[in-house]
Parts: sequence; structure tokens; C-alpha cells
Amino acid sequence: MERPTLYITRLLPQPVLDVISGQYRVLAEPTDRPPTVEELRHGFAEAQAVICTLTDRIDVSVLSHATKLRIIANYAVGYNNIDLPAAAQRGIIVTNTPDVLTDATADLTWALLLALARRVVEGDAWVRTGHWPGWTPTQMLGADVSGKRLGIIGMGRIGQAVAQRAAGFRMSVIYAGRQSVSSPPGVSWVWRTLDEVVAESDFLSLHVPLTETTRHLIDRRRLAMMKPTAFLINTSRGPVIDEAALLSALETQTIAGAGLDVYEQEPVVPARLTLLSNVVLLPHLGSATRETRVRMGLICLDNIAAVLSGRPAPNRVA
Ligand code: DGY
Repeated sequence: MERPTLYITRLLPQPVLDVISGQYRVLAEPTDRPPTVEELRHGFAEAQAVICTLTDRIDVSVLSHATKLRIIANYAVGYNNIDLPAAAQRGIIVTNTPDVLTDATADLTWALLLALARRVVEGDAWVRTGHWPGWTPTQMLGADVSGKRLGIIGMGRIGQAVAQRAAGFRMSVIYAGRQSVSSPPGVSWVWRTLDEVVAESDFLSLHVPLTETTRHLIDRRRLAMMKPTAFLINTSRGPVIDEAALLSALETQTIAGAGLDVYEQEPVVPARLTLLSNVVLLPHLGSATRETRVRMGLICLDNIAAVLSGRPAPNRVA
């Protein structure tokens, strides 16, 4: 029997490619380079299944070529890069990769939080210059993490995983979300309004999907409500923060600092942001562990196998 045609927009970890090579006819040799719009259109025109990434913009101009396509398996938990109504209109199923990246993303959120509070990146850079003069009592003072208040905006899987880790730091946790979420044994958190969470947190961490409602959720007004000693951490999607307003807040020290894994116009990062010492900037590493990226690929393949054999997709989002 002929193998189904699969288009992969980007190079995936080798264990995932190994599984693919035995089961599918891969349309074009995947590389790390983002596909051009023409390449995307060609791939979508020829394939029965696609694995694409969060940086591929899958809009009507691409989907209108997809005459044989049955499933788009997005290699991400977020799927704001895909025009879902346009896919649904063409009968194309869209899936994502929830759960498998929750721990990796929560861990990275904590890496940013701790690095910011304790000036880890600045300290590392100083030692590397060879100019560190030795220990002094007033040198490179950061902020305590233990015992402080953590605010979570968006109490889904990742928000909860970040909140659970706070118990180890004896932090109090408040959160804003669409509904109240019960906490597991030994952990406690309190549901508050969005503005209360913004105003009362020492560390404010964002875990909402990007939608028209959450775009610029953290705007100039909310940045002004934050404590001047507070830190903002974003591992969700860049446009959830108004980046121009954040730049002013950081430059004028309206807030103490920001840890960012995501940006409004990735991969473009404003030069002004890179000049600041009260920020830690990462290149969208939320799910970037070897184990997680393999699991994400295997979930994409599970969903594709289900749809191509007429079974329901386990992780269908549209
Ligand atoms: C996702 O899956 O949405 C993450 O941002 C990938 O790192």
C-alpha cells in the first residue's frame, strides 16, 4: 500500500524522523530554515498530513491550496499561528501537543524567575570579563524569592505547574483565570481578579494562550499597577504584553525587571531591550529539551495516524 504523503515544515529531532521515515513519504527534506510562503503552499497542496511549527503562519492563502490535506499537526501547544475557522471550513483537522511540554515550560519559567531575581546572567557575564574584584557585602544584590508572592495569569496546565513549584520556595500564590481551579494536596493558591494579581504580585508570570482577548493583556495601564519591586515573566506568547509599554516601564524602572522567552515580532527583539540590565532574554526555549521535543513529535504522529485511519484525533483543537 502506498505510504501517505507528509509535509514537515522544519527539521525535527532524529528519533521522530526515524519513526516518520518508516511510515510516510516525506515531501521535501526538512531543514531548520523557515519555509517560504511558496514552499508552504506547495507542501499544503501535495500533502495528506502536515506537521508545522508555531512560527509558520497558516492562513487562508496557504489553506486554499490544501485540497488533499486531512490534518495539520501543530508542533506546539499554542495554535495561534493557524486560522482555525478556515481549516474547519475545508474539513481539515488541527491538533496540538498539550501535556508533554508542561514541565519543561514550567521549569524554564522558574529558570527565568530565579535568574532575574538573583542576577545570574549579569553575574556570569561579569566573571567572564575577568574584572570581578572579589566578594563584597554590597555587590550585585538581588531580590529574595522565598516567601514572596507569585502571581499567575492563566491557570491552565502550565500555570498550575509553575504554581506548584512555588511551594518549595514557601511562596504565596494568587492567580487570575476564567474559573476557579482547585489546588493539589499540600499546595494552596487563591483566585483573584486580574488587576488584583497584577497589583499584588512580587513575581508575575503569564500563561494564557494568545487570542484577541489576551493580546496586550499587559498594557501600559497594568504595567503601571505593578509594584516597582515586581518582576514580570513571560513564557506564553509575546503579543500578550505590549512590548513598547514594557520597554518604557523597564527603562523608567516602573517595574524591577522582566524575564522574556517570547517577543511580539519573533525573531526580532527590540535593540532597546537588549541594552537593559534588568532583563533576561531567551530565544523561545519553553519546550526546548531533547525529551520534550521528541514527545511533541510523537504526539503529532499519533494524531496523524489516528486521522488518516479514520479514528478521532486525541489532541484535536479544531
Ligand atoms: C508551544 O508549544 O506553544 C511553545 O511555545 C513551544 O515552545
